[in-house]
Amino acid sequence: MKTLIRNGSVVTPQGIQAMDVLVDGEKIAALLAPGATSDSLAGSVDRVIDAAGKYVVPGGVDAHTHMELPFGGTFASDTFETGTRAAAWGGTTTIIDFAVQRYGERVQDGLATWHAKAGGNCFVDYAFHQIIGGVDDDSLKAMDELVDEGITSFKLFMAYPGVFYSDDGQIVRAMQQATHNGSLIMMHAENGIAIDVLVAQALARGETAPIYHGLTRPWETEEEATHRAIMLARMTGAPLYIVHMSAKQAVQTLQEARDLGLNVFGETCPQYLYLSLEENLGAPGFEGAKWVCSTPLRSRAEGHQDELWRYLRTNDLSIISTDHCPFCFKEQKELGINDFSKIPNGIGSVEHRMDLIYQGVADGKLSVERWVELCSTTPARMFGLYPRKGAIAPGSDADIVVYDPNGHTSIGLEKTHHMNMDHSAWEGFEIDGHVDVVMSRGTVLVDEQGFHGTKGHGQFLKRDLSQYLI
Ligand code: URP
Ligand code: ZN
Ligand code: ZN
Repeated sequence: MKTLIRNGSVVTPQGIQAMDVLVDGEKIAALLAPGATSDSLAGSVDRVIDAAGKYVVPGGVDAHTHMELPFGGTFASDTFETGTRAAAWGGTTTIIDFAVQRYGERVQDGLATWHAKAGGNCFVDYAFHQIIGGVDDDSLKAMDELVDEGITSFKLFMAYPGVFYSDDGQIVRAMQQATHNGSLIMMHAENGIAIDVLVAQALARGETAPIYHGLTRPWETEEEATHRAIMLARMTGAPLYIVHMSAKQAVQTLQEARDLGLNVFGETCPQYLYLSLEENLGAPGFEGAKWVCSTPLRSRAEGHQDELWRYLRTNDLSIISTDHCPFCFKEQKELGINDFSKIPNGIGSVEHRMDLIYQGVADGKLSVERWVELCSTTPARMFGLYPRKGAIAPGSDADIVVYDPNGHTSIGLEKTHHMNMDHSAWEGFEIDGHVDVVMSRGTVLVDEQGFHGTKGHGQFLKRDLSQYLI
């Protein structure tokens, strides 16, 4: 099967160029200057896609999703089937999900469970990070084994004592192991011990509404943990990637470390760029539960959102992922109706990331090249998938999105999205752009006719070590 994508503007972090893209089988075969060569090929290919007036960009790489994550006595509501279908609709053609080892379990068993959940069920390609919920001799040894199996990054938690939490000694040991095997430590940087005290005190005062989730996780708890994680990484020589950053003070600390030349990186998510403590977590009644996630949404009055956009421009924040962790309102978010600490933490966004961040381009906050870099190319390089993913180049997988900057997307209620959720955290968002065509390894999943993907098309990706580390 050969496809020619014609008349579009190919966008990479390096620039925008009028190029036609020839796809042969699962790979990009050539980039052609529009004109005679391309004209002569058009008659011999199986399909021609006209991308006139549109951007041709590498498929999105969402480096932070949680399909079916066990959390707070329930499970994230998207399966790999529903979640990767929704991802495809939104122009994301690779996800990196988190396999889970809980305290007392073998790491290899946690990984095997994740392979069983995802295998044969995905519409787009997928890879795994591994959550280490119990650092001990066995799990440290397992880290080396997993690196050989293409799981080259490990998430630790400074939050959630008694669930996923690692103490400083455990963090040091895991970082030392990462230094030895070349993998990347990903950190959930919040001081969970301090937070648990604040939570108990708030509940004792009768403060049970969703906004107290945010008020009991003040920016200091994120900044302190970020600083501590950076110091432990510096001490052990481990590279560090801090996930879902929301507090401007924490990113400033990260920026200072990067300016010293430390190998530390930061990720943020659309919710921290657009939503806020006051407007969303503080919505009347129990409504704010829709936006309970950790780290929490931050105050707009304090200006976190604008600062995060700025840090994206300066590359102190290098990646935008979703931290897609959806829960339905009925029976899931409602678990915390009388106690905010029982609201399962997470927001569903895997379908909307490319659009939401494109809106940043339309609003003049990012360049179109930076959109591609933040949402596709850098995640691919950070997590050892480049140039197979994240590139429009000969030899790369033909994961391609044709994006219409003159189109429009309205994000509505559950009927208009494909994630397995009974509400949308993004209801009412209007996007000045539209995902027109989505191709995964040469197969068109989405076009003007609708959805053509097949369950099982998505393959497991064995990842190399991060390409940002030496
Ligand atoms: O609220 C969140 N972020 N839920 C998912 C788990 C995590 O910490 O990433
Ligand atoms: Zn986390
Ligand atoms: Zn997460």
